[in-house]
Amino acid sequence: MSSIDLKKIYLNFFEGKGHKIIPSAPVIPENDPTVLFNTAGMQPLVPYLKGLPHPEGTRLADVQKCFRTNDLEEVGDKTHHTFFEMLGNWSLGDYFKEESIAWSFELLTKYLNIPVERLAVTVFKGNELVPADEEAANLWLEQGILKDRIAYLGVDDNWWPNMELTGPCGSDTEIFYWRSDEAVPDKFDPENENWVEIWNNVFMQYMHNPDGTFTPLEKKNVDTGMGVERVVAVLEGQTDNYKSSIWTDIIAKIEEVSGKKYDDEKYTTAIRIIADHLRAIVMLLGDDAKITPSNKDQGYVLRRLIRRTIRYARTLDINIDSDWDSQIANIVINQYKEYYTELDRNKDFIIESLKNEKVKFNRTLEKGLREFEKITKTIQGTEIDKDTAFKLYDTYGFPIELTEELAKEQGFTVDMDGFKAKFEEHQAKSRAGSEQKFKGGLASSGEMETKYHTATHLLNAALKKVLGEHVHQRGSNITAERMRFDFAHGEKMTDEEKKKAEDLVNEYISMAIPVERLEMPKEEAVKMGAECEFIERYPDIVTVYKIGDVSLEICGGPHVSNTSELGHFVIKKEESSSSGVRRIKAVLE
Ligand code: SER
Repeated sequence: MSSIDLKKIYLNFFEGKGHKIIPSAPVIPENDPTVLFNTAGMQPLVPYLKGLPHPEGTRLADVQKCFRTNDLEEVGDKTHHTFFEMLGNWSLGDYFKEESIAWSFELLTKYLNIPVERLAVTVFKGNELVPADEEAANLWLEQGILKDRIAYLGVDDNWWPNMELTGPCGSDTEIFYWRSDEAVPDKFDPENENWVEIWNNVFMQYMHNPDGTFTPLEKKNVDTGMGVERVVAVLEGQTDNYKSSIWTDIIAKIEEVSGKKYDDEKYTTAIRIIADHLRAIVMLLGDDAKITPSNKDQGYVLRRLIRRTIRYARTLDINIDSDWDSQIANIVINQYKEYYTELDRNKDFIIESLKNEKVKFNRTLEKGLREFEKITKTIQGTEIDKDTAFKLYDTYGFPIELTEELAKEQGFTVDMDGFKAKFEEHQAKSRAGSEQKFKGGLASSGEMETKYHTATHLLNAALKKVLGEHVHQRGSNITAERMRFDFAHGEKMTDEEKKKAEDLVNEYISMAIPVERLEMPKEEAVKMGAECEFIERYPDIVTVYKIGDVSLEICGGPHVSNTSELGHFVIKKEESSSSGVRRIKAVLE
């Protein structure tokens, strides 16, 4: 079954069950600078899962473009992908377990023709908060899943997203498929690798609050996710994802331009990396955000992907100057444009941007190679020191693996530990730099600016109280004269809401609350429920400002030491900043 067929069948099926098919959100989240990429189908829907009414109603389905870069180095094996697609259907306070389970079963067995004998499920075994999900187990039994094919697992497996993260959450039921030719065992053992998870149905019924408590969501939701690459491979009987029909044309083209074969083990990894990365590059460049390769954020990820692609293309002796990259990009565009129409619209931009970065890097790559030759001629001993390796990385854009590989070919080693230490130091510096930048140039704060910084924390807390927990900071800008604060909220604030928020901030000021500065590992801060605007951009150890029970935020500072120092807070204006984001201008008098 091709991925196009799978997507059609899935979306038609849920349309038939009253769902509105919504387009994929971009890979680069709109109005959510807290993350660089959309990493799951439900991510763009979080505000609606928390209770905001969705304009398309209470039953939604889509295929979402997803991007994960935390394990870029893993790409090259059988299962990892930088870009992938996720099918999902959602109930926003509409249907719950009964329909969700019945429909999953119907789609899998009647439309995807999976024999029921090949299916097994896990359900939540219960904890102090929620009892075992006998309801889900019974619903599966009613559908014809045998008792031995139902496993009860704990929070590590059957709770989404996990017990640490705040936000909407709940227990889930996961559906597994037996992919081996061996006889299907009667008893389901989730540890047996022949059982592959194909679908996850989350029954969201709690809000995990920043103070650690779980409160029932006003409306119960269903959030399901099915990874397209895995399911297509499984349905086509492949254990190597790259052998599924999704990759056939892309890999055939790489074989053609390189003259190398995928099945030749010497080349398999490089071909997988080129295939994965070029598809991801096309999807990233194809977004209407029109990002280009750069040294920060998404642009940096894009640059790394393109450089890695070229480096691996060279190992296959591909003629880098030829148009091999556009040829493969065109295949990807054609394969995906039906669902992601922006790819067609942005086609020239994709091809041109890819080509420009390729030409640019190839030029420095050649200079770097000459530099490398010089180094090896003059080197004392057999080790390339950390400073030289870092220069090759920093000045010539050499990924460290390239330096290592070139060194090896000529009988040298590289001081990898030294390089890593230097690299991390450099990363920490640039991360600290962005922390400063994103908090509005705090380093140069004067007395008034410092007061305004603290006022943004109080306003953030007040808005949460007045408008709801969905409020999060989306930006701020501070001068000695005023503050501007952008936050996620779908509607214009009423005069009454503005007044309430203003009064609340003034109340916090009059309470004379001490402002404490804490330092802790980032994970711990997240666990404590600290607010933050750009979690990925902070170093591992973060500064957290605690204002009594009112506010806890990761922030570079500086802040006043007591809220009483702020004076009187006045909201001057409330307006739209961009879709789903409001802006408040306020002063301290
Ligand atoms: N959010 C769940 C997942 O990503 C179901 O969509 O698995």
